Amino acid sequence: MTIDHIAIVVKDLEKTIELYTATLGFRQVYREIVADQGIEAVGLEAGDSIVELLRPLDESSPVARFRGEAESKLHHTAYRVDDIEAALAAYRAKGVRLIDERPRRGAHGNLIAFLHPKSTGGVLIELCQKSH
Ligand code: CO
Repeated sequence: MTIDHIAIVVKDLEKTIELYTATLGFRQVYREIVADQGIEAVGLEAGDSIVELLRPLDESSPVARFRGEAESKLHHTAYRVDDIEAALAAYRAKGVRLIDERPRRGAHGNLIAFLHPKSTGGVLIELCQKSH
């Protein structure tokens, strides 16, 4: 299992980009609005993986409420799978609770689906299939 990205929801996106690039030395590889998820996403290269900073477009959204007053908070870990439909079916068969019964479109045109944290030890897990 490969980590595709870890996503951190932040309060001040510009300041956090500055921190990660100018101070910590990450390279920014994309920045996009994902309207479907109500977020702006900034991807920072971390080897073969990405650290993704998330800014909620709406401060009353669940993602913003999850972050609360924190400056930033780890939101989810995403694992890369070759066949997301097959992975979802396999997890469903093992009794894993799914947030997304069907894959949907995520940042970068990838197909994604979230597993329910009640089934994953409290950490939100995303499955991610690369668009080809
Ligand atoms: Co994600």
